Amino acid sequence: MFHVKHFGTIDTWHARTGARRGRCIFGQGAGLFGLFSTAVRRKPALPCKGQAFRNSKVRQAIADIICFFKYIFSMGAMSSIGKKGLVISDLRERPEFFARAADRIWRAWWKPGGYPLDDITERLRENLLDQPIPFALIASDGSKFVGTASVIPSDMAERPQYSPWVAAVWTEPEYRNRGVGAALVDRAVQTAFGLGYARTFLCAAKDRREFYTKRAWTQIEDNVGKKKRTILVRDAN
Ligand SMILES: CC(C)(COP(=O)(O)OP(=O)(O)OC[C@H]1O[C@@H](n2cnc3c(N)ncnc32)[C@H](O)[C@@H]1OP(=O)(O)O)[C@@H](O)C(=O)NCCC(=O)NCCS
Repeated sequence: MFHVKHFGTIDTWHARTGARRGRCIFGQGAGLFGLFSTAVRRKPALPCKGQAFRNSKVRQAIADIICFFKYIFSMGAMSSIGKKGLVISDLRERPEFFARAADRIWRAWWKPGGYPLDDITERLRENLLDQPIPFALIASDGSKFVGTASVIPSDMAERPQYSPWVAAVWTEPEYRNRGVGAALVDRAVQTAFGLGYARTFLCAAKDRREFYTKRAWTQIEDNVGKKKRTILVRDAN
C-alpha cells in the first residue's frame, strides 16, 4: 500500500484554485502572515500611466486576498479526504470494497449493454485468486471507497496479441480531479512492470484518450473494433 503524497500540498491547491505560482504568496510558502507582509515586500508601483493600477500595491493586495479565499475554499473542498489520506491497495487486501467496485464497473461499462451485475461480480472474483494477473486496485479514504482500476490479461478480443491491459479505471465523482485516477493508473502500470511485463496496454474511447496521452501513454492504434477504440501503450522505460 502507498499513500498519494501530493494530496493536499500547496502545489495541488494552486493547481485546483488556478492561482499562479510565484505570484500568490501561498505559492511561496509564506503562510497566512505573508498576506500582511506582502504589501511591504513588493516593489513599488511603476509611475507609468495606465500601468499604475496594474502594478499598484492595492491591486497586488486584492489579488492576494482573492487567492487567500480561493485557498480557504479549496481546503474546504479537499476536507473530505481523511487524516490518513488516500490509500491504494490490492482488492485482495480490501475485500470489503468488492461489492462497491463490482457495482461501479457494472454501471459504467456493462449495465448499458444489458449485462447483469452477476456477470461482472463473477469476473471481478477472478481478481481475488492467488495469481499475479488479473488484479484489481482499490483507492480508499479510511472506510470510504474512492476508486478502482484493474490489470487484466485481455481487454479486446480483436487484439489477443496484446497483454496485459489496464482497465476499468474509475474514480467516485466526488473525488475526481484530485489525482486519484492518475495514481490508480500509475500504480497499475508499475505493478505490472514489477511482475516482469515490459509493456502495458489500454483501450479508451476517443473522448478519454487525452487523459492517458497526458500521462506518458502513447497511442498505437485508432478506431479498433465496433466501438472504435483507441489503443495506447506504456513502456517500462
Ligand atoms: C477518467 C477518470 C478515471 C479520471 O479520474 P480522476 O480521479 O478525476 O483523474 P485525475 O484527478 O487523476 O485527473 C484528472 C484529469 O483528467 C482529466 N479528465 C477527466 N476525464 C477526462 C476525459 N474523459 N477525457 C480527458 N481528460 C479527462 C481532467 O480534465 C483532469 O485534467 P488535468 O489533470 O489536466 O486537470 C474519472 O473521470 C472517471 O472515473 N470517469 C468515469 C470512468 C471512465 O471514463 N474511466 C476511464 C476509462 S478509459
